Amino acid sequence: MTTLTQPTPQVHLVNHPLVQHKLSLMRRKDASTNSFRTLLNEISMLMAYEVTRDMPMQDVEIETPLETMTAKMIDGKKLVFVSILRAGNGILDGVLTVVPGARVGHIGLYRDPNTLQPVEYYFKMPKDMEERDIVVVDPMLATGNSAVAAVSRLKQLKPKSIKFLCLLTCPEGIATMHKTHPDVEIFTAAIDRQLNEHGYILPGLGDAGDRIFGTQ
Ligand code: URA
Repeated sequence: MTTLTQPTPQVHLVNHPLVQHKLSLMRRKDASTNSFRTLLNEISMLMAYEVTRDMPMQDVEIETPLETMTAKMIDGKKLVFVSILRAGNGILDGVLTVVPGARVGHIGLYRDPNTLQPVEYYFKMPKDMEERDIVVVDPMLATGNSAVAAVSRLKQLKPKSIKFLCLLTCPEGIATMHKTHPDVEIFTAAIDRQLNEHGYILPGLGDAGDRIFGTQ
């Protein structure tokens, strides 16, 4: 379905026209909370196809109405979507619609006002993480500090692989992730120009959490 281009080896830009169109609708400041959330849900479904493109397949014997055949199937239970709270939850519904058997983990981080470093306040994962492939979800890969902290924490559980799925990123966020975790592939719908002095992506779409939950 979507055509992928790879601006760098580890960044997959999902530039399918449907994704780009929906993203443009979301960026508009007058998009309602309802339409922002609905569009994010739809884009998340489309991006789930790309992030799962190389999922392992199993040969399974099935019966068609006409005969027996060996068919390909995936084991969705091996996949864990890990949401970085709270905005990551806006991506979960969409990706779980496409891979309903996937497991879900949550990680909560806040920024210490003195050190400016991410501090973990919540961490809940399925068991047997060493047997699983992880897709971390967060709409905005901005400074990259939370994303790097989340991935570092998840690596302690020795999962089979970790990918990062976001809606928007910028050169600074990609650089931060690559510096610490060059092995983590990033899937994004856009690479915007830059961060501003408050850590917001420009031109961006504002505060993703506020726009998803209507809290601004
Ligand atoms: N988080 C957001 O919600 N928006 C940004 O632009 C950057 C980080």
